[in-house]
Amino acid sequence: MNFNRLAAHYHWLELAFAGGLMQRCRTAFLARTAPCRSALLVGEGTGRFLVELLRARPGMEVTCVEHSAGMIAQARRRLHAENLNPDRVQFLAADALTWTPPAGKFDLVVTNFFLDCFPPDQLRQLIPRIAAGTTPSALWLLADFRLPEHGWRRWRAAGILAVLYLAFKLTTALSARWLTPPDDLLQHAGFQLVERRLASFGLAHADLWQRASP
Ligand SMILES: C[S@@+](CC[C@H](N)C(=O)[O-])C[C@H]1O[C@@H](n2cnc3c(N)ncnc32)[C@H](O)[C@@H]1O
Repeated sequence: MNFNRLAAHYHWLELAFAGGLMQRCRTAFLARTAPCRSALLVGEGTGRFLVELLRARPGMEVTCVEHSAGMIAQARRRLHAENLNPDRVQFLAADALTWTPPAGKFDLVVTNFFLDCFPPDQLRQLIPRIAAGTTPSALWLLADFRLPEHGWRRWRAAGILAVLYLAFKLTTALSARWLTPPDDLLQHAGFQLVERRLASFGLAHADLWQRASP
Protein backbone atom coordinates (compact mmCIF):
# COMPACT_ATOMS: atom_id res chain seq x y z
CA MET A 1 0.00 0.00 0.00
CA ASN A 2 1.20 3.51 -0.76
CA PHE A 3 -0.31 6.72 0.56
CA ASN A 4 1.89 9.11 -1.45
CA ARG A 5 -0.81 9.90 -4.02
CA LEU A 6 -3.27 10.68 -1.26
CA ALA A 7 -0.96 12.70 0.99
CA ALA A 8 -1.69 16.17 -0.39
CA HIS A 9 -5.46 15.54 -0.35
CA TYR A 10 -5.80 13.58 2.90
CA HIS A 11 -6.63 16.55 5.11
CA TRP A 12 -9.47 18.05 3.07
CA LEU A 13 -10.85 14.62 2.23
CA GLU A 14 -10.94 13.85 5.95
CA LEU A 15 -12.80 17.09 6.71
CA ALA A 16 -15.26 16.50 3.86
CA PHE A 17 -15.89 12.88 4.82
CA ALA A 18 -15.76 12.99 8.61
CA GLY A 19 -15.70 16.61 9.78
CA GLY A 20 -14.10 16.67 13.23
CA LEU A 21 -14.80 13.01 14.05
CA MET A 22 -11.34 11.58 13.41
CA GLN A 23 -9.50 14.37 15.23
CA ARG A 24 -11.80 14.01 18.26
CA CYS A 25 -10.95 10.31 18.35
CA ARG A 26 -7.22 10.91 17.90
CA THR A 27 -7.06 13.36 20.79
CA ALA A 28 -9.60 11.68 23.12
CA PHE A 29 -6.91 10.48 25.54
CA LEU A 30 -4.25 13.14 24.98
CA ALA A 31 -4.55 14.31 28.60
CA ARG A 32 -3.56 10.81 29.77
CA THR A 33 -0.11 11.11 28.16
CA ALA A 34 1.13 13.45 30.92
CA PRO A 35 3.48 10.87 32.53
CA CYS A 36 5.00 9.80 29.21
CA ARG A 37 8.45 10.87 28.06
CA SER A 38 9.16 8.99 24.84
CA ALA A 39 6.50 8.50 22.15
CA LEU A 40 6.34 6.32 19.07
CA LEU A 41 3.75 7.40 16.49
CA VAL A 42 3.26 4.82 13.75
CA GLY A 43 1.54 5.71 10.46
CA GLU A 44 1.01 9.26 11.70
CA GLY A 45 0.12 10.61 8.27
CA THR A 46 -0.19 14.39 7.93
CA GLY A 47 0.58 15.06 11.60
CA ARG A 48 -2.70 16.34 13.04
CA PHE A 49 -2.24 14.34 16.25
CA LEU A 50 1.49 15.10 16.30
CA VAL A 51 0.84 18.86 16.50
CA GLU A 52 -1.44 18.43 19.51
CA LEU A 53 1.02 16.09 21.21
CA LEU A 54 3.97 18.46 20.78
CA ARG A 55 1.91 21.35 22.12
CA ALA A 56 0.65 19.39 25.11
CA ARG A 57 4.00 17.76 25.96
CA PRO A 58 6.88 20.19 25.36
CA GLY A 59 9.45 17.87 26.96
CA MET A 60 8.48 14.70 25.11
CA GLU A 61 10.82 12.92 22.73
CA VAL A 62 8.85 11.86 19.63
CA THR A 63 9.61 9.32 16.92
CA CYS A 64 7.35 8.98 13.87
CA VAL A 65 7.57 5.86 11.74
CA GLU A 66 5.75 6.54 8.49
CA HIS A 67 6.04 4.67 5.20
CA SER A 68 4.96 7.50 2.91
CA ALA A 69 7.47 10.24 2.11
CA GLY A 70 4.54 12.37 0.95
CA MET A 71 2.87 12.05 4.36
CA ILE A 72 6.12 12.95 6.15
CA ALA A 73 6.45 16.05 3.97
CA GLN A 74 2.87 17.04 4.87
CA ALA A 75 3.55 16.52 8.57
CA ARG A 76 6.73 18.61 8.44
CA ARG A 77 4.85 21.35 6.59
CA ARG A 78 2.16 21.29 9.26
CA LEU A 79 4.73 21.65 12.08
CA HIS A 80 6.27 24.60 10.28
CA ALA A 81 2.85 26.24 9.78
CA GLU A 82 2.06 25.75 13.48
CA ASN A 83 5.42 27.22 14.56
CA LEU A 84 6.56 23.95 16.07
CA ASN A 85 10.17 22.89 15.80
CA PRO A 86 10.43 19.85 13.46
CA ASP A 87 13.76 18.97 15.11
CA ARG A 88 11.77 17.77 18.14
CA VAL A 89 10.58 14.85 16.02
CA GLN A 90 12.60 12.01 14.57
CA PHE A 91 10.85 11.12 11.30
CA LEU A 92 11.73 7.66 10.03
CA ALA A 93 10.59 6.82 6.51
CA ALA A 94 10.18 3.12 7.17
CA ASP A 95 7.81 0.20 6.79
CA ALA A 96 6.48 -0.62 10.25
CA LEU A 97 6.07 -4.24 9.16
CA THR A 98 9.83 -4.65 8.97
CA TRP A 99 11.20 -1.80 11.13
CA THR A 100 12.59 -2.96 14.47
CA PRO A 101 12.09 -0.52 17.36
CA PRO A 102 14.80 -0.11 20.01
CA ALA A 103 13.84 -2.62 22.73
CA GLY A 104 11.90 -1.19 25.70
CA LYS A 105 12.33 2.46 24.66
CA PHE A 106 8.83 3.93 24.27
CA ASP A 107 6.37 4.63 27.10
CA LEU A 108 3.74 5.81 24.62
CA VAL A 109 2.63 4.26 21.33
CA VAL A 110 0.07 5.98 19.10
CA THR A 111 -1.57 4.32 16.10
CA ASN A 112 -4.43 6.43 14.79
CA PHE A 113 -6.52 5.04 11.94
CA PHE A 114 -3.56 2.79 11.17
CA LEU A 115 -4.25 -0.73 12.43
CA ASP A 116 -7.46 -0.85 10.38
CA CYS A 117 -5.30 -0.67 7.22
CA PHE A 118 -3.93 -4.21 7.73
CA PRO A 119 -5.25 -7.72 7.16
CA PRO A 120 -5.04 -10.25 10.02
CA ASP A 121 -1.72 -11.85 8.99
CA GLN A 122 0.04 -8.47 8.86
CA LEU A 123 -1.49 -7.35 12.17
CA ARG A 124 -0.12 -10.52 13.77
CA GLN A 125 3.32 -9.43 12.58
CA LEU A 126 2.95 -5.72 13.36
CA ILE A 127 1.56 -5.56 16.88
CA PRO A 128 4.18 -7.72 18.67
CA ARG A 129 6.90 -5.92 16.70
CA ILE A 130 5.73 -2.52 17.98
CA ALA A 131 5.09 -3.87 21.48
CA ALA A 132 8.71 -5.04 21.71
CA GLY A 133 9.74 -1.38 21.70
CA THR A 134 7.65 -0.46 24.76
CA THR A 135 8.43 -0.02 28.45
CA PRO A 136 6.73 -2.34 31.01
CA SER A 137 3.86 0.10 31.75
CA ALA A 138 3.63 1.83 28.38
CA LEU A 139 0.39 3.38 27.11
CA TRP A 140 -0.97 2.62 23.64
CA LEU A 141 -3.45 5.13 22.25
CA LEU A 142 -5.36 4.20 19.16
CA ALA A 143 -8.30 5.33 17.12
CA ASP A 144 -9.90 3.22 14.41
CA PHE A 145 -13.13 2.58 12.61
CA ARG A 146 -15.32 -0.23 13.87
CA LEU A 147 -18.49 -2.19 13.13
CA PRO A 148 -21.18 -1.95 15.85
CA GLU A 149 -22.59 -5.26 17.08
CA HIS A 150 -26.12 -5.00 15.64
CA GLY A 151 -29.07 -2.92 14.47
CA TRP A 152 -29.18 0.11 12.19
CA ARG A 153 -25.87 1.35 13.54
CA ARG A 154 -24.20 -1.78 12.16
CA TRP A 155 -25.85 -1.35 8.73
CA ARG A 156 -24.92 2.31 8.63
CA ALA A 157 -21.31 1.60 9.54
CA ALA A 158 -21.09 -1.33 7.08
CA GLY A 159 -22.21 0.95 4.23
CA ILE A 160 -19.76 3.71 5.14
CA LEU A 161 -16.88 1.25 5.61
CA ALA A 162 -17.58 -0.50 2.30
CA VAL A 163 -17.22 2.85 0.49
CA LEU A 164 -14.15 3.75 2.51
CA TYR A 165 -12.31 0.45 1.93
CA LEU A 166 -13.09 0.59 -1.80
CA ALA A 167 -11.80 4.18 -2.03
CA PHE A 168 -8.57 3.28 -0.21
CA LYS A 169 -8.14 0.14 -2.32
CA LEU A 170 -8.32 2.25 -5.49
CA THR A 171 -6.12 5.11 -4.28
CA THR A 172 -3.54 3.39 -2.06
CA ALA A 173 -3.79 -0.35 -2.89
CA LEU A 174 -4.64 -0.86 0.79
CA SER A 175 -3.77 -4.40 1.90
CA ALA A 176 -6.83 -4.86 4.14
CA ARG A 177 -10.16 -5.73 2.57
CA TRP A 178 -12.09 -5.22 5.82
CA LEU A 179 -11.68 -4.38 9.50
CA THR A 180 -9.78 -6.71 11.82
CA PRO A 181 -10.28 -5.79 15.49
CA PRO A 182 -6.80 -5.75 17.06
CA ASP A 183 -7.99 -6.40 20.63
CA ASP A 184 -6.87 -10.02 20.95
CA LEU A 185 -3.46 -9.24 19.50
CA LEU A 186 -2.95 -6.27 21.83
CA GLN A 187 -3.89 -8.44 24.81
CA HIS A 188 -1.57 -11.15 23.60
CA ALA A 189 1.20 -8.55 23.38
CA GLY A 190 0.64 -7.76 27.09
CA PHE A 191 -1.70 -4.75 26.86
CA GLN A 192 -5.03 -4.30 28.67
CA LEU A 193 -7.86 -2.04 27.60
CA VAL A 194 -8.20 0.78 30.15
CA GLU A 195 -10.92 2.79 28.43
CA ARG A 196 -12.79 2.87 25.12
CA ARG A 197 -14.88 5.74 23.81
CA LEU A 198 -17.25 5.29 20.89
CA ALA A 199 -18.12 8.01 18.41
CA SER A 200 -20.56 8.57 15.55
CA PHE A 201 -23.05 5.86 16.61
CA GLY A 202 -20.25 3.35 17.08
CA LEU A 203 -18.58 3.90 13.69
CA ALA A 204 -15.28 4.89 15.32
CA HIS A 205 -13.57 4.35 18.64
CA ALA A 206 -10.74 5.81 20.64
CA ASP A 207 -8.90 3.43 22.97
CA LEU A 208 -6.47 3.73 25.82
CA TRP A 209 -4.49 0.52 26.41
CA GLN A 210 -1.78 -0.03 28.96
CA ARG A 211 0.89 -2.67 29.16
CA ALA A 212 0.35 -4.72 32.26
CA SER A 213 3.19 -6.00 34.39
CA PRO A 214 3.52 -9.79 33.96
C1 LIG B 1 -5.27 5.80 7.02
S1 LIG B 1 -3.77 6.67 7.19
C2 LIG B 1 -3.88 7.28 8.83
C3 LIG B 1 -3.06 8.52 9.01
C4 LIG B 1 -3.17 9.19 10.38
N1 LIG B 1 -2.58 8.39 11.44
C5 LIG B 1 -4.57 9.57 10.73
O1 LIG B 1 -4.91 9.54 11.94
O2 LIG B 1 -5.34 9.96 9.85
C6 LIG B 1 -2.57 5.37 7.38
C7 LIG B 1 -1.16 5.90 7.47
O3 LIG B 1 -0.29 4.80 7.72
C8 LIG B 1 0.82 4.86 6.85
N2 LIG B 1 1.29 3.49 6.61
C9 LIG B 1 0.64 2.53 5.91
N3 LIG B 1 1.33 1.38 5.93
C10 LIG B 1 2.44 1.63 6.66
C11 LIG B 1 3.54 0.84 7.07
N4 LIG B 1 3.64 -0.44 6.70
N5 LIG B 1 4.50 1.40 7.84
C12 LIG B 1 4.39 2.72 8.22
N6 LIG B 1 3.39 3.51 7.86
C13 LIG B 1 2.41 2.98 7.09
C14 LIG B 1 0.30 5.55 5.59
O4 LIG B 1 1.34 6.10 4.82
C15 LIG B 1 -0.65 6.58 6.20
O5 LIG B 1 0.01 7.75 6.53
